[in-house]
Amino acid sequence: MELKDAIKKRHSTRNFSDKTIPNKIVLEIIEYAHLAPSAGNLQSRDFIIVNEDDIKEKLSEAALDQKFIIEAPINIIVCANLNRVSPYGIRGKELYCIQDATAAVEHILLLAKDYELNTCWIGAFDEKKYQKYLVYQLILDLLR
Ligand SMILES: Cc1cc2nc3c(=O)[nH]c(=O)nc-3n(C[C@H](O)[C@H](O)[C@H](O)COP(=O)(O)O)c2cc1C
Repeated sequence: MELKDAIKKRHSTRNFSDKTIPNKIVLEIIEYAHLAPSAGNLQSRDFIIVNEDDIKEKLSEAALDQKFIIEAPINIIVCANLNRVSPYGIRGKELYCIQDATAAVEHILLLAKDYELNTCWIGAFDEKKYQKYLVYQLILDLLR
């Protein structure tokens, strides 16, 4: 798909099928997310892939009960990495890591569209609850 088409065709979707997304595609989407610009090329962003239903349920509840989060085959959590951007002091922590993460989100949405995958950016959630549930997901990943 041409970039212009991907930009035009991307819209937020709140209905998802239960089709599995091949790991190869998920990894490629993350690879392209890393290609987004980042302040000082410090890559002050991390990505957590959530595909366990029970974790998605918790994340949905922590995001004002937006149920379609559970239906989506995967959730990609884009985290700002405050430590990695510390050379830039307060400006790094308050601005750059958020901007790095945000630039990566747009790459994710557009590359997903390139694969005809629909997406929805979720910004309404309780950060503290997300932190707690994502630790469970990381532990599950480590045990795999
Ligand atoms: C920072 C940010 C936070 C958002 N949070 C949510 C959200 O929590 N739930 C939701 O359904 N959509 C959310 N959206 C999607 C917007 O509602 C959507 O992008 C907007 O209505 C424009 O529609 P479009 O994406 O189809 O062009 C968010 C978008 C952004 C950029």
